[in-house]
Amino acid sequence: MLESLKNVGWSVERDWLSHQDLSDLTVAFQNWKAENRFTPARIGQGQSLQQHGGIRGDETWWFDLAAPPTELLPILQRVEALKVEMNRSLFLGLKDWDVHLASYPPGAGYKKHLDRHQLQSSRKLSLVLYLNENWQKADGGELVIYNQAGEELTRVSPEGGTLVMFLSEDFPHEVLPAKRERRSLTGWFLDAPRGVV
Ligand code: OGA
Ligand code: MN
Repeated sequence: MLESLKNVGWSVERDWLSHQDLSDLTVAFQNWKAENRFTPARIGQGQSLQQHGGIRGDETWWFDLAAPPTELLPILQRVEALKVEMNRSLFLGLKDWDVHLASYPPGAGYKKHLDRHQLQSSRKLSLVLYLNENWQKADGGELVIYNQAGEELTRVSPEGGTLVMFLSEDFPHEVLPAKRERRSLTGWFLDAPRGVV
């Protein structure tokens, strides 16, 4: 992952999660949904915050990182360790991170966008960890990553346990609609403390 991030600015790692972890998280995710923790995703921040189903159709849960769901603790610790490792080997100056869980209902996607923009200017590195057990190619829902010239670089099928990372400023990307519910833990390593844009 580090080599790939250093060389091309993005990386795709299959089986970052074990099958057992994935299966435990599948159960936990089902419970969080049943507890109505998710709300329709919104775009922007502060006064410009808008709900915009035409651009993104997912539902998210911005759990409190100070008191995360216990089932996520081991993963969040590994993400923290990644941050330390990134700083050590890539000198990214990462100070903090921000994360949410996302669920795309069948047919929903997220149009081409950049994760770092005026309203989210501290996002340095984007991470997406897929939580979909037994995902088939035919289920769709690929993440398409482009370069700044708009050329397609790769298409990632959101198979459970796959971790994708890319520099937030450099890679426009989009989520294609899927045939079944599509789940992920999505986060951003920040070059400023959380809450400071
Ligand atoms: C995002 C995003 C990608 C994915 O939440 O900003 O681009 O594959 N997610 O879920
Ligand atoms: Mn994105």
